[in-house]
Amino acid sequence: MAVNLRRNSGRKSEEVDLPRRRFLGWLSSVGLFGSAVLSAMSNLVFIKPRATYGAPQRFSIGKPDEFPAGTRVAVETRRICVVREGNKVAAISTTCTHLGCIIGLSETGFACPCHGSRFDSDGNVTGGPAPRPLPWFKVTLAPNGELEVDKDTEIEPGSYLNV
Ligand code: FES
Repeated sequence: MAVNLRRNSGRKSEEVDLPRRRFLGWLSSVGLFGSAVLSAMSNLVFIKPRATYGAPQRFSIGKPDEFPAGTRVAVETRRICVVREGNKVAAISTTCTHLGCIIGLSETGFACPCHGSRFDSDGNVTGGPAPRPLPWFKVTLAPNGELEVDKDTEIEPGSYLNV
């Protein structure tokens, strides 16, 4: 039921619709409450840290049988190249030592698509701006028979794990 009041404002009278005022008051209350809830929730999001520390640097790459002799395969998600020569296995970094691009395999070793650095099959720089050879990472045989690469431990280039 609408109640209309007339108020004399001097020059003309103004019609005031009370249900409309109530509705607008209710609407603004809901808006205020909603924005307060949203801001409280957005502050609560910051309580739990969202920091990520990247992928683990020590990981399994599978059983030695999965890498037959002569294998030279890039594991792009891990940024390594698994090399198997006879009964020897190694893991060479595929992160360019220039500015960190992911290096691809080439006929002569490795090639960086970003600025043209070239590496031989052992990761030695043969051309381009890369300042250092590609690091080799420690490979071990885990108790479950799988090969494990530890990217936190660099080893002497040319050091293979005998499997
Ligand atoms: S990042 Fe590989 S050559 Fe620059």
